[in-house]
This record gives sequence, C-alpha cells and structure tokens, in this order.
Amino acid sequence: MSQLPHHITLEPAYGPLRGTIRVPGDKSVSHRAAMFGAIAHGETSVEGFGPGEDNRSTLAVLRDLGAALHLDEATGALRIQGRGPEGLRAASAPLDCGNSGTTLRLMTGLLAGLRLDATLIGDASLSSRPMRRIADPLNALGAAVEVTGARGTPPVHVRGLAAAFRGGHAALTVASAQVKSALLLAALGAGVPMRVEEPSPSRDHTEVMLRAFGVPLRSSPHYEHPDAPGTPWVDLPAWGQPLQGRRLEVPGDISSAAFLLVAAALLPGSEVCLTACGATPTRAGVLDVLRDVGVEVRLEHVRRLDGGEPAADLRVRATPLHGFHLPPEAVPRAVDEIPVLAVLAAFAHGTSRLCGLAELRVKECDRLERTRALLDAAGCQVAILGDDLLIHGRGGVPFTPFDFDATHDHRMAAAAAVASLVASGPCRVQNIDCLAISYPGLLRDLEALRTVPPTHPEIP
Ligand code: S3P
Repeated sequence: MSQLPHHITLEPAYGPLRGTIRVPGDKSVSHRAAMFGAIAHGETSVEGFGPGEDNRSTLAVLRDLGAALHLDEATGALRIQGRGPEGLRAASAPLDCGNSGTTLRLMTGLLAGLRLDATLIGDASLSSRPMRRIADPLNALGAAVEVTGARGTPPVHVRGLAAAFRGGHAALTVASAQVKSALLLAALGAGVPMRVEEPSPSRDHTEVMLRAFGVPLRSSPHYEHPDAPGTPWVDLPAWGQPLQGRRLEVPGDISSAAFLLVAAALLPGSEVCLTACGATPTRAGVLDVLRDVGVEVRLEHVRRLDGGEPAADLRVRATPLHGFHLPPEAVPRAVDEIPVLAVLAAFAHGTSRLCGLAELRVKECDRLERTRALLDAAGCQVAILGDDLLIHGRGGVPFTPFDFDATHDHRMAAAAAVASLVASGPCRVQNIDCLAISYPGLLRDLEALRTVPPTHPEIP
C-alpha cells in the first residue's frame, strides 16, 4: 500500500514550474504487457511497468490463474515466464480486480475465449460500474458471461466450459477500448476471427501490442488519423499460432503527464519537459486542447519503443489561456483527462464547453458531478447541461481555497492537487491516497518542479 496520507493540505505554487520529469509507465500498456506476456511462450521482459495499484491488480489476477511472473519494484522491470495459454488455469476463488476496470473487462474477454471458468470481483467503486457492455457483445457471439450484480455490475462470472466464443462482427455503440479489447482477446483466445467497429477511435494499445507479438491484425486509418472519414474498425483474423515472448518498453503515461502539463500551463513562466511519454494519436486529446487554449506544446525525439508504442519528449511553455470547445467525438481521446482539462478551462479567459461526457458518469465515480463539485468549491461558475460541462473561466484570477473530497477517485484527487496550485491559499484534499491507483508520485513530482518551495511541505 502507498505511504500517501488520507487527507492533505496543499499550498499554492507561488511561482512557475520548471524542470524535466519522467512520468510513470503507462497504465493501459502495462496491463496489456502483463496479460499478453502471460499467454505467450517463453520470456517476456517489460521495462517501465506502471507503478500504480491498478497494474498490481492485473499481476495478482494473472498469478491467481497460474502465471509465473516477477516484478522488480525498484526498477519497474517485469519478467514473465510464459507457458502459452495452456499455462493459465481456471480459478476456483474469485479474482479480485481491485479498482481496475481494465483488469476486469479485458480478463473477462480473455478467459471467455480460453474457455476458463472464473468469477471476477472488485472494490466498492468497481462493483458499481457497468459490465453488461462487455457481457452482452461477448454473449451475442457465443460466450457465456453472467453479470450478477444488481444493476448490471460485478460480480462477473465467466462460464468457460458452458459455451464457446465464435467471433464474428460487433458494432459498438460506445467508443471503448476496454470493450473492443475484451472482444479481440476473446477471439485471440478462441482462435476465431473478429471485426469490431466503434463510433470513434478509442485507444489502440491492444492492437499495437498484438502486432508486435506477430498477430496480423488490420485496422482503419482512424487510429493514426482520428479525423479520417467513415467508421473506425479493427479486424483480427483467425489466429491459432502462439505468441512468442519478447521485450516490451512501456512509455510514460500521458494520462499522468496531463496533470503536470496542465499545471505548467496554469502557471505563467513555466516550462516543463516530460521524457519518453506515450504519444499515440488515440490519446493525444490533451495535447490538442492545450494547443487550442494557446499553450506552446512541442514533441521532441519522437520514436517507436520496443513493442510498437510511439513516444516523445513533451515540452510545454505557459502562455495566456483562453477557453475551448471540446466536441463529443474528441472525448474518447481525452476521456481520463476531462477533470483536469476542466480545471484548465476554469482558469482560462472566456467560456468553455466540454460536450458529450456521458461516459464520465460511469468511471471510478460520477466524474461529471465530481468535476462540477471541485470547480464549484474553487469558486468557479460551472454547470452541467445534459452531458455537457459549461465553464466560465476566471481569466487567471486565483481559485478560492477549497476543501474537496476526491471520493477515492485517483483522477479527481490529481485534478484537485493541480487546481490547488493556483488557489489564493492552502487547499485541503480528502482521500488523496487514491493517487496510488495510477500515479503514486504525483505530489513528489509537482514538488520537484516548483521554483518556490512550499513553506510547510506535507508530502511524505
Ligand atoms: C482504458 C480505456 C478507457 C480508460 C481507462 C483505461 C484501457 O476506458 O478510461 O482508464 O486501458 O483500455 P474505456 O475504454 O471504457 O473508455
């Protein structure tokens, strides 16, 4: 468990942020690296595995299924001795996915494809999240996945022996990388073909990594060029060949980077560089918004890492900020960054509208409502109109010091920590320890970038 306190008082920055940081390994890529390594033959070595508790949940679930893996906590090096899909066995006890929706949804697909019985459960937050979105399309194509929580929520039971996933065609109504990946993994496990269409392109880490493992998967141009016309699609052929273990490098997590990028954007005179950060177009929404509001954003040393993920050093320089419009089709490419982008909007000049945020209601908490509550507590004019957030920016006037409960949602805790930097006095954030889910070192990294040290540092 983390050393972070439950509650914390954070001081404003009182000056610009400057410096160079390597943000922690990408959470989404790390989940997939562990899962794919576990079903490959031979050793998979993963450099830069994510340090958060969500990624630990995936490792724990894979261990419960019989996978042999070792994580060096100090270096983030993960070694997996893959024995192919046969190396995994059905689990008699429930698999605890903790707070991690990605673990639960992707593993459900993989287990259904491999025809292994399992029950998947999670903590209080995960136990209130919708699971029919994976069970329905899997079952429509032959799987037997039962969701027994009262409102279509966990527990999720995979009846592997009862039914065989036969693959086919699925047209998703929500752009979701988790649902898309659950279907692709079911098809991979079962050795059957699968085509998935989605309304707009969601992150493509599953596709990129499967290709690196040699799977001849095809996809539409949207995953490189999100504005391409037509419907995004992914085609997985019937693929019976085993994956071979390999080396994978995990880029820095752009969703974690977003907090430092926005913090730098809020504080005049800031210049921050985040090295080896993930730079996939499918998650670059935060960079587009920063450019839109006037921030200078540069991608330096752009390259592909082992495993195929694009990475770059991200350099931002603060400039005066103005409001922005985020259309619904841009949301999947910034879905985890909306709370902190709302903080950016609230500090900018003019009005911003962030549209089509229904998915935020079914994240680790109702993030639409919690984001409104955070901005409200910070003295901003904010309203929820249907599924949109309307924010009247304060034009650089510091936020009112606030006392905010992050309600165990890591992205809300991090967004509040960023907002506190530009408040007119110390702010209190309750339940900040949930930062350990994705970015345990956020407060330390923010402190390292400060040019004016806090008078009463509280960070352990
Ligand atoms: C993730 C996909 C996103 C994102 C989540 C991680 C993934 O969820 O919000 O934090 O790793 O596939 P959806 O695909 O459900 O939007």
